[in-house]
Amino acid sequence: MEIKRICVLGAGAMGHGIAQVCAQAGYDVSLRDIEDKFVQGGIDRIRKFLDGSVERKKMTREKADATLSRIKGYVDLKEAARDVDLVIEAIIENMEIKKATFKELDALCPAHTIFASNTSYQCVTEIAAATKRPDKFLGMHWFNPPPIMRGVEVIKGEKTSQETLDIIVDLCHKLGKQPGVCKDSPGFIVNRLLQPWRNESFRLYDEGVASFQDIDKALKTAYNFRMGPFELGDLVGLEIAIVGNETMYRELKSDVFKPARCHIMKVRAGDWGRKTGQGFYEYGK
Ligand SMILES: NC(=O)c1ccc[n+]([C@@H]2O[C@H](COP(=O)([O-])OP(=O)(O)OC[C@H]3O[C@@H](n4cnc5c(N)ncnc54)[C@H](O)[C@@H]3O)[C@@H](O)[C@H]2O)c1
Repeated sequence: MEIKRICVLGAGAMGHGIAQVCAQAGYDVSLRDIEDKFVQGGIDRIRKFLDGSVERKKMTREKADATLSRIKGYVDLKEAARDVDLVIEAIIENMEIKKATFKELDALCPAHTIFASNTSYQCVTEIAAATKRPDKFLGMHWFNPPPIMRGVEVIKGEKTSQETLDIIVDLCHKLGKQPGVCKDSPGFIVNRLLQPWRNESFRLYDEGVASFQDIDKALKTAYNFRMGPFELGDLVGLEIAIVGNETMYRELKSDVFKPARCHIMKVRAGDWGRKTGQGFYEYGK
């Protein structure tokens, strides 16, 4: 099966970037969110990114215009999902909402359509079980920001067929990304390793060992990391990161994943990071 049309659900931090990567590679993309202002917000961010690329002479104006022309925005799920070969879901990190969305899509999409979830922490096999096509369901875990980051984790659920996996691995290459295949396990590869590192950094801050700025600085200067754990938490979204802590703490029964106090309080205060203008750092509007 050849993928030609792709539907991306959610035009937020990840969805708009995923839509851009797909359109840049020549695919027709329908970008869907629950309100028109979110759809337009996502398209505006894509336009801004492309304009910046043209200004920096990283892309021609023709390529930028062609990319944008391949992306159509939708609020109506039925319209967005019509005749697509692949759906990539990047909506909020909530198991019940993801399951309900895929159940609805299962009735709307053609039988051949492959479903991929960009979930960071939820069980891909469990989301797939909400559909009648678990063989055509898998995880496609992108990294933030999608147009820049090179890797995509491809997660094989318990019932994902080899054919589905092969199609998506091939698609990753066509999108200019490096696929990393793994089994369905809490946090997959990258977040399983990232979580203990970030969590221990948050605990250092809770214990008053150092300021969060100094912890970020220490790791960046010692290891040449591009971002420290607090900066990264703000970029990812602290409300998403804490779902990871809670899920992995529950599933793996290890205290290394137990959410740190400062993390819990930031989430409760609504200071989720860049997307709210305030996380550990302040970003303004
Ligand atoms: N932020 C990251 O760094 C990152 C990295 C990898 C994976 N992810 C995963 O990607 C997904 C999205 O994360 P995000 O950071 O883009 O979140 P976000 O909050 O920035 O965007 C989510 C978007 O989904 C929309 N939405 C909510 N319910 C919807 C529905 N039923 N149908 C369509 N759209 C709906 C929201 O309106 C919002 O625009 C999550 O599963 C998250 O775990 C995030």
